Amino acid sequence: MFFRKKRISSVDDRLKHIAFIMDGNGRWAQKRMLPRSLGHKQGAATFKKIVRYCFEMGIKVVTVYAFSTENWKRPKEEIDAIVNLLKEYILDGLQEDDVRINFIGEKTSLPEDLADLLLDTEEKTKEKNKILNIAFNYGGRNEIVNACNKLIQAGKDKITENDISESIYTAGLPEPDLIVRTAGEYRLSNFLLWQGAYSELYFTNIYWPDFDKKQLDLAIESFYSRKRRFGGLNKKEGEK
Ligand code: FPP
Repeated sequence: MFFRKKRISSVDDRLKHIAFIMDGNGRWAQKRMLPRSLGHKQGAATFKKIVRYCFEMGIKVVTVYAFSTENWKRPKEEIDAIVNLLKEYILDGLQEDDVRINFIGEKTSLPEDLADLLLDTEEKTKEKNKILNIAFNYGGRNEIVNACNKLIQAGKDKITENDISESIYTAGLPEPDLIVRTAGEYRLSNFLLWQGAYSELYFTNIYWPDFDKKQLDLAIESFYSRKRRFGGLNKKEGEK
């Protein structure tokens, strides 16, 4: 007899932080002979739904990769579409309850009005509890170099791992327990390089606009089936 597996409805403390590389918007659109910008529009709708599900399940921190430092190489029309979706999200997102929005990435090199909007959003949401990090103009190597430069400027002549953890954009937050990448690419693409040292990785062939609650449950089921050792041994393996 076939029983439908019960879907995950809540998480525990092992999964405090989930991160997503939202890949495949362009291919989703191209497969349907649509402009890539429409793929991003559909991707933004998926983003809103998935972030909401994650918080409903009890995940405390969600991080998404919205725009990398390398994405400026894309056609202007596509860049404008992503920036506009981000702006729309900010305007709607502020109506949503209890979400604190942090933008991780270089704000200083962004157009001034956009940088101001991001800073203003962070300020307006800073008292809220659920944390949404939106990586925009973000690169993991750049984040680590910036952290080191900050420490040098502060007069450090010897830098520890802890110093770097306290100087990156996500300082004070738990490291990602699970990083999910959609659309069949098996790489991190400069995302959360420092924070992701011990993250569990989950890859799926599903394009981001098609990623739904069922897909999220599959990723979380896979996470709970893993043994996280953080470089040590599990209890039983250590017994002799
Ligand atoms: C990768 O797909 C996706 C991006 C570079 C942008 C992600 C942006 C969104 C989901 C919408 C806006 C974001 C927010 C937070 C409102 P791709 O274009 O590289 O797809 P491809 O690999 O199929 O070309």
